[in-house]
Amino acid sequence: MDRRLVDGQGRAIRYLRVSVTDRCDLRCRYCMAEEMTFLPRSELLALEEIALIAERFVARGVTKIRLTGGEPLVRRDALDLVRRLGRSVGHGLNELTLTTNGTRLADHAQALADAGVRRINVSLDSRDPALFRHITRHGDVAQVLNGIAAARDAGLRVKINMVALKGLNDSEIPAMLDWAACEGMDLTLIETMPLGMINEDRADRFVPLTAVLDDLRARFDLAPDSHDSGGPARYWRVGGSATRLGLISPLTGNFCATCNRVRLTTDGKLYSCLGHDDHVDLRAAIREGGLAAVDAAIDAALGAKPARHDFDVSQGASPAVARHMSVTGG
Ligand code: GTP
Ligand code: 5AD
Ligand code: SF4
Repeated sequence: MDRRLVDGQGRAIRYLRVSVTDRCDLRCRYCMAEEMTFLPRSELLALEEIALIAERFVARGVTKIRLTGGEPLVRRDALDLVRRLGRSVGHGLNELTLTTNGTRLADHAQALADAGVRRINVSLDSRDPALFRHITRHGDVAQVLNGIAAARDAGLRVKINMVALKGLNDSEIPAMLDWAACEGMDLTLIETMPLGMINEDRADRFVPLTAVLDDLRARFDLAPDSHDSGGPARYWRVGGSATRLGLISPLTGNFCATCNRVRLTTDGKLYSCLGHDDHVDLRAAIREGGLAAVDAAIDAALGAKPARHDFDVSQGASPAVARHMSVTGG
């Protein structure tokens, strides 16, 4: 039987995103409501189950795994999982990486590097302490900047993720790019996506990255760059620096035709698309039928993977799907 991971639209799946927890120590306004209900711990996959499923994906052709959340480093055994999956790097897996909010990086950066992680993406929506606190509701930007410094000291390459938010951080985008270029880091800008109920209307905060790019091209020397990180960003090289500007534009520049990814949640659901509810239950599969049942469930999920999302921020407060980004890890 052909075990290659190809979906119903003929897209090869090479990238597994694993949300290791839906919990987070921050409450970014575009991501979470102030009061969130999290999954009971009894529902979660054990570390061994996540590892077995992830290793099965690698055996079937996945070359890139990203641990996300919520905030992955708030899960107590997250580093044990990184160490376990690190054993697959160079044995089918080309890249093991993380997306983190950076609050706990100072403590864990060296262990991540030691486990085989080479680069990480850190969410940083503002470098201004008051604005960072406002957007995250709880965050201390100094802690995140210290975490970024520790990661770089440990030899990790850091890419900054910034969700563009009208009236909040949009005026800070040029300064963020200047800073990233001075520091020799890449910066990826992201359009806010309508996932999960939050306490505000996303239409009020939406910034089209088409307009941001026009503005940045008037200020910076930007040249298209063919770099492919295996994710959805399209890149521009910032003249006079090694920095790349990435743009993730699900609303103004749909990239679903080249989608190469699926998502495993902390309770074992495999979502075939960020923007849809279609999923299969790999927790039931592995507990009741072992890896053969996992294979069958993965095949069913890929066969039904939707062609694209239907995000539309003009819907205002009502999200495209009820599930928050933190459940599927973006
Ligand atoms: P690289 O490996 O550096 O390319 O990272 P990445 O962009 O794959 O991962 P990251 O966790 O940094 O995600 C950045 C943003 O891209 C998040 O807001 C994700 O939700 C978003 N994103 C990733 N994959 C998809 C996707 O398939 N569809 C949509 N709409 N957004 C996605
Ligand atoms: N829209 C766009 N990006 C989001 N992120 C979290 N929620 C959303 C959303 N609704 C971003 C985080 C992080 C990445 C994994 O996803 O800021 O950088
Ligand atoms: Fe947490 Fe990330 Fe959501 Fe911020 S964006 S609340 S860091 S999951």
